[in-house]
Amino acid sequence: MKLLALESSCDELSIAILDNGKILSNIISSQIERHKEFGGVVPELAARLHLENLDWVISSALKKAKIEIDAIDAIAYTQAPGLIGSLIVGKIIAETIAMYLNKPLIPCDHIQGHIYGASIDNEFVYPVLAMVVSGGHTQIELINSVTDYQIIGQTQDDAIGECYDKVARYLGLPYPGGPEIDRLAASGNSQIYPLPIPKTTQEFDFSYSGLKTAAINLINKIKQKGEEVDINNFAASFQDVAVKTIIQKFDLAIKKYQPKTITVAGGVSANSLIRQEIQRLGNENQVPNIIIPKMEYCTDNAAMIGKLAQELINISK
Ligand code: KG4
Ligand code: ZN
Repeated sequence: MKLLALESSCDELSIAILDNGKILSNIISSQIERHKEFGGVVPELAARLHLENLDWVISSALKKAKIEIDAIDAIAYTQAPGLIGSLIVGKIIAETIAMYLNKPLIPCDHIQGHIYGASIDNEFVYPVLAMVVSGGHTQIELINSVTDYQIIGQTQDDAIGECYDKVARYLGLPYPGGPEIDRLAASGNSQIYPLPIPKTTQEFDFSYSGLKTAAINLINKIKQKGEEVDINNFAASFQDVAVKTIIQKFDLAIKKYQPKTITVAGGVSANSLIRQEIQRLGNENQVPNIIIPKMEYCTDNAAMIGKLAQELINISK
């Protein structure tokens, strides 16, 4: 069963080829350099660049997998959520290939794709408790099978990646700010700038808008006093609270649901502190399987969509 998978929900166009769930290629064209000058993703530009990049992305994916397009048995693509223009371009490409080859189309959910990206190198043992941390979503999911899952906690406002990016922008750092803060935090002291963990009413919910406001207010206060913000210490202090905000809830959820596997997914799962903390929580709670995905499968990529599609095919047999 050879699958062509396509991911185009934001500013990356990616095509992967899988053979019975094994990744043969996973080509990712990132547009970060083109959006950097605007300080964030420009949706119209993202959709146009997907079309410009399609030719080399698809030919590289087939070449690396050493197969001809006629050998493809099914086409998977990201249906939602994402930027509407980017999603439409991806859908039309996938539909065109499916029509040309007369093969089935498998629409996939981007968030579930991120989660199943973690199972590419380590198969899930259910139940799985997954922490989804991306630029648009932040939630804790309990998964019993690929078609049976529930969100048990989520952000009440901003996503964690959005919070990182906005605070980074305020600090004058380039887009995307998440990796910049992570890098600067490595040589900073997290105890220098105290920031609060916002309270929420539901047991497993959390909030990032409050943290964003508190961080920006603190930067303003320091500047008003005529002092300089120590960027490394600020990055470390912010990162400490941003990660604690969700990690504390994830810890409570592990204790309540006793999962056999824990994992983390989405762009922010590339964060060094989050990766470290997931490992620590897993060890402390004696979770049998702790999956920290490869960096390549953390940010947007088509291999994760292919893996999800393969699981959907397997369960429907
Ligand atoms: O999942 P993703 O690639 O796109 C969405 O679907 O949103 O996530 C992108 C987000 C951005 O907010 C980016 O700043 C963040 O992931 N990110 C990080 C790190 N690497 C990427 N945030 C914190 N630390 C990182 N190392
Ligand atoms: Zn994503």
